[in-house]
Amino acid sequence: MLKYNNEIIDEVRNSNNILDVVSQYVILKRSGRNYSGLCPFHKEKSPSFYVSPDKQIFHCFGCGEGGDVLGFIRKIENISFKEAIETLAERANIKLPILVNSEKDEKIQKLKSKIYQINEIASEFYQKNLLNPNSKIAQDYVKKRKMDMYTLKTFGIGFAGNFDELYQELKKREFNDEEILASKLVLKSEKTGKMYDAFRNRLMFTIKDIKDRVIAFGGRALDDSKPKYINSPDTLVYNKGRHLFAMNIAKRCGEKTIMLVEGYMDTISLHQRGVHNVVASLGTALTEHQGRLLNGFEKVIIGYDSDSAGQGATARSLEILQTLRFDIRILQLTGAKDPDEYIVKYGSGQIKKAMENSISLVEFKVKKLKESLDLDNVSDKIKFLNELSKIILQVENDIEKEIYISKFSEQYKVSKESIYAQLNKLQYAMNQGNKILEKTNAIKRNPSKEKQENLEKETSRENLIISILLNNNKDDFEKIRNVINIEDFKNEKNRKIAEKLYEQFEKGNINNVMDLFEEDEIINHITYIMSIDFQIADTQKTKKAIEDVSSKFETEKLHDRKSEILKKLASSNLSSEESSELMNELNSINMRLKK
Ligand code: CTP
Ligand code: MN
Repeated sequence: MLKYNNEIIDEVRNSNNILDVVSQYVILKRSGRNYSGLCPFHKEKSPSFYVSPDKQIFHCFGCGEGGDVLGFIRKIENISFKEAIETLAERANIKLPILVNSEKDEKIQKLKSKIYQINEIASEFYQKNLLNPNSKIAQDYVKKRKMDMYTLKTFGIGFAGNFDELYQELKKREFNDEEILASKLVLKSEKTGKMYDAFRNRLMFTIKDIKDRVIAFGGRALDDSKPKYINSPDTLVYNKGRHLFAMNIAKRCGEKTIMLVEGYMDTISLHQRGVHNVVASLGTALTEHQGRLLNGFEKVIIGYDSDSAGQGATARSLEILQTLRFDIRILQLTGAKDPDEYIVKYGSGQIKKAMENSISLVEFKVKKLKESLDLDNVSDKIKFLNELSKIILQVENDIEKEIYISKFSEQYKVSKESIYAQLNKLQYAMNQGNKILEKTNAIKRNPSKEKQENLEKETSRENLIISILLNNNKDDFEKIRNVINIEDFKNEKNRKIAEKLYEQFEKGNINNVMDLFEEDEIINHITYIMSIDFQIADTQKTKKAIEDVSSKFETEKLHDRKSEILKKLASSNLSSEESSELMNELNSINMRLKK
């Protein structure tokens, strides 16, 4: 892998103040020397995300994520370290040197660019073929689905022929077989070794990435034959779970709300009729990568099909969107199985209304609950009231709670009083349960409590040492090294960090600590240590802290050695010489421990 050198990385880092960069994503409030806000990496109601302009780091005490400005951009934009450097360089108007590729990288880069070219050509080839008089069945199909010329162009809709037409075209354009096969648009028969087009006799949809590059295709059968769709497999330029169909268009629509649908036709049909804030996950439940592509939109409406597959995908996508902190709504359509059918039948005004009226997660849960029950049946009605109350209990905001209670009471014909009564009952039971839980936990915890506390003390002592080392003072380092060995660090992360820092100090000084580590876990731990204020800013305090900690480490070592000696002495097969030697050592240890 090619890397920018440390000087340029430092320049990029120093030219992008973490406070300004984070502020583009998170609303920050000043708190003392630091700034805090709601963490963009996990769902939370009260802020545990901190930015320190002094240290140029961020850290979330809720989820543990932390890092410098490059780490922040890498995590929030879901990009590589190299891409983060490029993004921030651009932001600060820094011109990066062109990296020279190693031979293997160069080959892959070249192949990638060939695949992009092949894809582009294939898309045009299919589109042209659709207009060919011989393609009447495809033209009829397009008419039947009411797609207009503008749509055909925008979504690169075309028609794939019957044999190896695309292969012949690509040969004519002087691509070699290796490049053609890498695009996976042409396959090679294992039996005969003959090359043939992967997509045949299908209506073709062009899939583009957010940079408008053609990355893949979907092909629909023109009749009821199976499979209905064939999609490009992953290639060097395409990874299914990392893209959303039509995001290249939707991201330019300037709306705060985006709707997620299942299919090609849903997306295309809505865009054609003026609803542009729509993208498709193409038949599967959302992945986390796809979820992050929605960053920048505030509200996400899930507009999956009403069939069971669509509902299953809804449930799984909800989980991902929830952790990403979107305001989530679920589209409710009646009279059509998917958004395409709906807009064709009722028009764009109606679907826009449906989007506005899409329901919240709480309402969705209650609706699902109701569907599984018969409210005319007494025992079902009791069950409904009970489950309904459980769902309402999870709503944190009291005003919101009230609103839901009124709404559900009206909608499902249950009195407000009975909901409130049930809520109180649940609340009481929950409080009792918590009390019992606390008690049993207290009993369970007690025996190991001491051990736990010791462990915590030990770790925080180690953290303090790491924090002193991070101050980058060579004298302090030497003092520490004299008493504390790498192996003395019991916490694995601390041990790894100490090892690197010792190594760096031996060479000179620590240049940039974030650049020394690659594992997120370690970086998060470092920002954690940097964020808890050990109040060791002045030298006097540092000196005292080193002494304290060093003596604790020493005492511990002496205790360890002592128990080792006692164990040895207890075993009988020692010569008198050996045992007297051990006794002497034991004495001197005891003396030192007393001091
Ligand atoms: N899909 C797929 N393979 C299949 C069926 C579906 O990849 N065999 C994906 C496609 O991306 C498709 C989406 O799942 O667009 C939704 O499937 P479906 O609702 O069946 O298709 P529609 O997009 O509604 O297409 P049409 O209206 O033409 O039936
Ligand atoms: Mn459909």
